[in-house]
Formats: sequence, C-alpha cells, structure tokens
Amino acid sequence: MALSIREHVALGPLVTLKTGGAARYFTTAETVEDIKEAVYFAEQNKLPLFVLGGGSNLLVSEEGFSGLVVQLKLKGITYASQSDATCKLTAAAGEELDVVIADSVARGLWGLENLSHIPGSIGATPVQNVGAYGVEVADIILEVTVFDCVTKKIFTMSNSECYFLYRHSIFKEKNNLIILLVTFMLSALPNPKVAYADLAQLSTSALTPQAIRDCVIGVRASKFPDWHTVGTAGSFFKNPVIPKAEAIAVALKYPDLPTYPAANGQIKVSLGYILDKICGLKGFTLGHVRLYEKQALVLVADAGATTQEIKNFKNIISKIVFEKTFITIEQEVTEI
Ligand code: EPU
Repeated sequence: MALSIREHVALGPLVTLKTGGAARYFTTAETVEDIKEAVYFAEQNKLPLFVLGGGSNLLVSEEGFSGLVVQLKLKGITYASQSDATCKLTAAAGEELDVVIADSVARGLWGLENLSHIPGSIGATPVQNVGAYGVEVADIILEVTVFDCVTKKIFTMSNSECYFLYRHSIFKEKNNLIILLVTFMLSALPNPKVAYADLAQLSTSALTPQAIRDCVIGVRASKFPDWHTVGTAGSFFKNPVIPKAEAIAVALKYPDLPTYPAANGQIKVSLGYILDKICGLKGFTLGHVRLYEKQALVLVADAGATTQEIKNFKNIISKIVFEKTFITIEQEVTEI
C-alpha cells in the first residue's frame, strides 16, 4: 500500500515541549517497507528527512521542518531466554519505553526498572544513551538493528559499535542510520542497582524489579512535572563533563558541588546543583518559561510558550552559568 504523506502537519502536539511549527511533509511508518518508501520520497523530492520517536527530547523551531518527518510506529516486543540467568528482550523502535519496562518488570526481569516513567520511544533510547538512577541503556543494550538510508541495508550493531558515552552515541553523529530494533540483555537473577541516593529508601531485603520501579516512579513524581499537562523535556541541559583541573577549580570554590567520574579521566559536575545553589535559578521564570521549582535542571514551558521564548531563556541561563562558573553548558535537547 502506498505511504500516506500529509502536508503542513503541526509538530507541537507531537513533542513534549509542545511548541514549534509544522512539518512540510509528514508520515508514519509501521513497517520497514514504510520507512523505505519514506526515504525514497525524501530522496526523489530532495528533502531532508527527520525521524521522530516520542518527541520527548526535541525542540521544534518556529518555522517548523521544511522536509519530511517520519514518525516511527514499528511495534513488537519479543523475549528469548538465554539460560536460567539471562533473557534477551528485543523491542521495535516505535514501542513506548515505559510500556516495555512495565512488561519486562511484570516478568520479573532485571535491567530496565531504574528507567521507569522516562517518556519516549525505544528507538530514541540508544541515540542519547538514556539514563536515570544509576543505569544507562548502554549498560544493558546488547545490539541495535538499523536501516542505513544511504546503502539501503539493514544491519545489526553491537554495543561497542554504538560508541556510547554520557548522553551520546554514534547515532547522534550519523543521521543516515534509522533505528529499527533494540535488544537488551536482561537478568533473570536478582541484579538490583540501588546505589543512587534517591533509591536509598528501598529496603534491601524485599528488592524486586517491581519494588525498584515503584520507588523510581515515586521519586520521579516528586521531582519532575507531568509532561502530559505542561511542556517539558526532562533535563533540558546535560550535566557538564569537564577536565579534572577545571572541576577542581570549581569544587574549591563550591565544596558541596556533586561531582562524578566520567570517561577519559574527566569529571561530570551537577548542573542542577549549579543552577539551584550557585546561581539561585531554581524557579527562575521569564514569560511562559521557567526552571522547575523541584529540579532546576528541568525546563518547563507553560501554556502559551513559544520556541523562541525557550531559546532566549536557555541562552540567558547559559550566560549566567558561564559568568558564575566559567563552564560552557550544552543542551541535551535536540533542535530541528
Ligand atoms: N540538585 C540540586 N538542585 C536541583 C537539582 C539537583 O541541588 O534543583 C542536586 C541534587 O541534590 C543532587 C544532584 O544535584 O545532589 C543531582 O541531582 P539529581 O539526582 O536530581 O540528578 P541530575 O543530575 O540533576 C540526572 C539526569 C536525569 C535523571 C537523574 C536521575 C542528566 C542531564 N539528567 O539529573 O535525566 O533522571 O539524573 O538519575 O543527566 C534527562 O536526561 O532528561 C533526565 C531527566
């Protein structure tokens, strides 16, 4: 069946920040064949192509997107037991992450529970190496199956071929790869990850994937606004990863600043703490945009906000942080 391509489709309702213009062309893909047709349409019409998942980490410009937006709707979750100890879970890119987590937790499998209630699709998880409460998908992804828009081939990439880093992977660099399937290696035997301070309330005797999921859901509810009702993309910025000498200089001035070891001997510093305790910006509001009162790293775009307002706001925040700490901050949210 020929792919249905619509024109001038508003993107605001499809992203959790809820702002921005329209896609010149828009389609949904339920199968690999649909994806191939969409890629062909974009090539024939010399249009840029953008793959949309759950829209939970995306800022759409006021002008919208002048090419073809393809929203992935590929569905399916399969399990393959490897032994008494491990089980492979393969989920299609269009599955909602939290639906997959709820399903794996209900089966008593360990691995995804710390990522409960993160909005977004499975296909988006490897792209920015989604993480929370002591777990990143890089820790549990076995492989990722992709469609290469250039060679038109489907192939599978191992975990190491994805080059995962903090909120980063090869998929941020190579936009010719469309993620079709993600395979996670889960544990059938107890493997709780509860070292993160927010999970300390859990009693170690009664740990189950469900108990951890319930705890994470409670913690998130206390720290994050409900993306169903307000515009938000979770953390708008990344925690800065900076050279050790620079981190020492900031930590000397602000000894309580939380710091964590990162790749290549660098140090990750807590931007939430910097925004809140060093810059006094928790709850800072300009027009319809603010830093959330319960977690300063979370930007909230209230009803009536525009993308331009969000862009002006983030520039002001970046400037204040730089003036106070000499740290240049990067956003986590992708812009189109
Ligand atoms: N903090 C403050 N004030 C604030 C916010 C944080 O002092 O307003 C301090 C906290 O007290 C804590 C430290 O900063 O000592 C870290 O805060 P938190 O544990 O809330 O985590 P985060 O570093 O701010 C990251 C992720 C979140 C993830 C949480 C929990 C990034 C950019 N963000 O936030 O991920 O849920 O850890 O693991 O890495 C996301 O990426 O969208 C996201 C929500």
